[in-house]
Amino acid sequence: MISTPIRVGVVGASGYSGLELLRLLAAHPGVELSYVAGNHESSIELTDEFPHLAGLGGLRLEAYRPEVCADRCDAVFVALPSGSSGRVAAELWRMGKVVIDLSGDLRLPADVYERWYQKPAAPADAIEAAVYGLTEWAREALRSANLVANPGCYPTAVLLGLLPAVRAGLCRGGGTIVIDAKSGVSGAGRSAAGHLMFAEMADNFLPYRVGRHQHVPEIERVLGPEAGAIVFTTQLLPTVRGIYASCYVPLAQPIRVEEVYEVYRNRYEGEPFVHVLPPGQVPALKHVRASNRCQIGLAVDDRTQVLMVFSAIDNLQKGAAGQAVQNFNVRFQFPEETALTGCGVHP
Ligand SMILES: NC(=O)c1ccc[n+]([C@@H]2O[C@H](COP(=O)([O-])OP(=O)(O)OC[C@H]3O[C@@H](n4cnc5c(N)ncnc54)[C@H](OP(=O)(O)O)[C@@H]3O)[C@@H](O)[C@H]2O)c1
Repeated sequence: MISTPIRVGVVGASGYSGLELLRLLAAHPGVELSYVAGNHESSIELTDEFPHLAGLGGLRLEAYRPEVCADRCDAVFVALPSGSSGRVAAELWRMGKVVIDLSGDLRLPADVYERWYQKPAAPADAIEAAVYGLTEWAREALRSANLVANPGCYPTAVLLGLLPAVRAGLCRGGGTIVIDAKSGVSGAGRSAAGHLMFAEMADNFLPYRVGRHQHVPEIERVLGPEAGAIVFTTQLLPTVRGIYASCYVPLAQPIRVEEVYEVYRNRYEGEPFVHVLPPGQVPALKHVRASNRCQIGLAVDDRTQVLMVFSAIDNLQKGAAGQAVQNFNVRFQFPEETALTGCGVHP
């Protein structure tokens, strides 16, 4: 455990993920928030624009300057839009900082990234060096990582839900895994968009980016060849937070749900943030809202020999800022739960 506070910066602090990072880091006993930057040209009082961060009075939201950031920080969270984020993360990492990037820029090989994101890839050395930070499956590598590619919100929910089944060989080779996933609107970030207006979203429900969502290659890459290609549909829920993934896995051979439950329970035993529900129970967004927890439910459809995995997270917590802080805790040897909660907010 480190005794002097780690000087931490957040770049992209005025976005939804950045604001959640500030909220969490403000309660971290081993952190001194020393640099906060947004897309502003002039520096402003943080709490003037974001009064909910009242406890952080005195901090200013500054224009991003790499030298100033590097001078004031030991570690930096970068939460900028894809295309900018990876470059800033690479720049700070090359300046010797520990960097956790929340964007998709460092999660994929350059050619795959450019095909799915339709943007130039981040520098190759940074992509190569970045550790994919799905904490429960990458802890050892994270302990010494100086550059972390924090997973996407959908991939976090889907991979935590599917990896135990795929790694245990429960999945039928050649069968297609179908993933039906939903997100609250904060998953799209804070910038204004017509389809995210209240009058469009409220009382509404629809799929988007059908067949071309950028999280497809991220999920396939981590699941590996034994899972094969996936069918992945993303839909917008009229909620503020939450990711709910319903995954359908063709089984290699008949198995009872109680046996599947044992596989999952053994894999996640002792994990503070992954909670596998006993057969018969299902996750709900309200059980994980504003917490860093992932809730997983299991069922087997005997008629079709399909395993159903239901996985719920809060997109801004386990799907973004919460997992980033969890990774920071692993990297700097703080107890993993520091500044994070496993309890949801209900109602
Ligand atoms: N939202 C989620 O649930 C979620 C989950 C996982 C990962 N992520 C990833 O996390 C990153 C941030 O997402 P978000 O949802 O928090 O986005 P957001 O709410 O749109 O915030 C983006 C942040 O970047 C700043 N910014 C925008 N354009 C910029 C530019 N050209 N140069 C410098 N700064 C710029 C914004 O500053 P201003 O406020 O001043 O414009 C803001 O601070 C994205 O890469 C996203 O894919 C998001």
